[in-house]
Amino acid sequence: MASADTLPAAVQGLSIHSTSEQSKFEGCFPSLNPIDIYRQEIAEKLGAATGIDSEKIYTRLNWTSTLDKGDLILPIPSLQIKKKPQELAQELADKFPESDLVEPPVPMGVHLQFFCKLKPLTETVITRILKDKAAFGTNGNQGLRDPADPSKGQKKMIIEFSSPNIAKPFHAGHLRSTIIGGFLANLFTVMGWDVIKMNYLGDWGKQYGLLANGYKLFGSEEQLIKNPIAHLFDVYVKINAIVAEQDGPIKDLKEQIKAKKEKGEEVATLEADLAKLVDVSEDEKARRYFKSMEDGDPDALALWSRFRDLSIEKYKQTYARLNIDFDVYSGESQIKPESMASAYRTMEKSGVSEESEGAVIVDFTKHGAKKLGKAIIVRKDGTPLYLTRDIGAIQEREEAYHFDKMIYVVAAQQDLHLAQLFKITELMGLKDLADRCQHINFGMVRGMSTRKGTVKFLDDILRDVGEKMHEVMKKNTEKYEQVEDPVGTADILGITSVMVQDMTGKRINGYDFNLDAMTSFEGDTGPYLQYAHARLCSMRRKSGLSDEELLSADLNLLTEAHATELVRLLSQWPDVLLNTTKTLEPTTIITYLFRMTHALSSSYDVLKVIGSEPELKKARMALYASARQVLHNGMRVLGLSPVER
Ligand code: ARG
Repeated sequence: MASADTLPAAVQGLSIHSTSEQSKFEGCFPSLNPIDIYRQEIAEKLGAATGIDSEKIYTRLNWTSTLDKGDLILPIPSLQIKKKPQELAQELADKFPESDLVEPPVPMGVHLQFFCKLKPLTETVITRILKDKAAFGTNGNQGLRDPADPSKGQKKMIIEFSSPNIAKPFHAGHLRSTIIGGFLANLFTVMGWDVIKMNYLGDWGKQYGLLANGYKLFGSEEQLIKNPIAHLFDVYVKINAIVAEQDGPIKDLKEQIKAKKEKGEEVATLEADLAKLVDVSEDEKARRYFKSMEDGDPDALALWSRFRDLSIEKYKQTYARLNIDFDVYSGESQIKPESMASAYRTMEKSGVSEESEGAVIVDFTKHGAKKLGKAIIVRKDGTPLYLTRDIGAIQEREEAYHFDKMIYVVAAQQDLHLAQLFKITELMGLKDLADRCQHINFGMVRGMSTRKGTVKFLDDILRDVGEKMHEVMKKNTEKYEQVEDPVGTADILGITSVMVQDMTGKRINGYDFNLDAMTSFEGDTGPYLQYAHARLCSMRRKSGLSDEELLSADLNLLTEAHATELVRLLSQWPDVLLNTTKTLEPTTIITYLFRMTHALSSSYDVLKVIGSEPELKKARMALYASARQVLHNGMRVLGLSPVER
């Protein structure tokens, strides 16, 4: 389970609201989220002045899309009061009393806009950030079963993601699942959930028979140890080439037999020939080998388990580069036959499944789910399928973890598969379990390939992007010379490029894998985000100011429009994080971070630190240090490693 020390350093510090200072509003945590202070003030004052239920006002207060619309906005129709909204907006504005925290509200159409008074906002926001540091924006109460009683513990969530297939390429779908899943795991961890990160490997099936036999022919112990993933893939490709070769004559014979039969001719000799060919074919050998694995043959299983273990070791190293570590390496092989058998029995008893041509199927059209079509649960030969294992898995996980929620991060190509899985679960009488599960899907990446060819191991992609990044960095000789470890930095920037490109759009949209665009320092790219962070770090180093000095700064000096705009943006971070737990979209965070980097880059010329008189320098540095902290916190949740130089 997610122990604090295995998490990236920055998501460790969780802020918990002490129960002694519960707000009267649900989900209101003034000591963690500065904006909650203002929500509370508005709801209480407006409620008292107008007789409208303050709880209702509190829940209807929204954040704004742009700061010119205010810091918070109240959509008047949402109050459901029988009065013309425009008139009511004006009336409420007139009644709103003087406040130390909030400016007089501005009626705008059917909305009432609220602007925080800048002095208290600046003071609270900057001080909070400088004190809470990595914990700013996090809220450990969100994941509590009962925020009023922390002894009831955290809610538990399984996030299943990445899930590659051993001996097959790690394709773009796995990459996206890894990035999005890692992000969701960080997100819910900083919101106080107990997150279990699970990798469900494709590690079972006839292809392991092929692989084992192929290994006897083409395997090298040395290569296996050196790079198991690439070597196993190599073996797999070679043995598959033989299968394809053998397939030709087998197909020819089958056609000859068919043709003769149609003519009513004798086929016995041909059939005997066919049987011989099939019997010695690699495909058949693989089937037999896999059967021996299913039957528990210790030698067969030992070899398979070695392939699996070595592959996992290698995966772990690559995942570490993406700041990801899994709590559980599960996989199709781990699903117990008993779980599947008991599922068949339930399905049979409850009339969910039926026999069809010797196989067992579920016909969803008979269960009010036309779109889901039909699915095979047990093959004619009695063997289970991908779906069958998932049906076993969902129940094993329920039993082992008693989770509050489970998320499957899998490509949209498998929408039908997961919809079928959840529907079957529901039909088996486990609606409550099905309701706790969610498929987080995503669109395709087009054109992901390495420079040398199309084989797509994650390591190759990351190496390529790192090399490309190194070239881009070298173009700026002056800056390049300031970087202490250019290769290491290029590597991190390369990984950032891939991840930011992936998380920029909505998940469901696909995108083109574009090496040039993603590694550019211009535009809303990963390198630009890193640059913005490094620049703030460098500014801080040059300022020579200590944490204590920043905390003693006179924040009243931050009066320029650029400064207050930044403060207002920073104040939104806890809400952005909270909102992300609803959208489950990394772009919610990315968009916010880029808004901030844009505001920052237009501030540097106006709000100078170096060369300003000491008090102003301190105040401005406190502002920039806060911006750096929030940028850092955001990047960490996304799974990025912010660079300092
Ligand atoms: N290994 C599968 C694939 O590569 C993805 C597994 C998704 N998870 C699941 N529970 N079916 O397509």
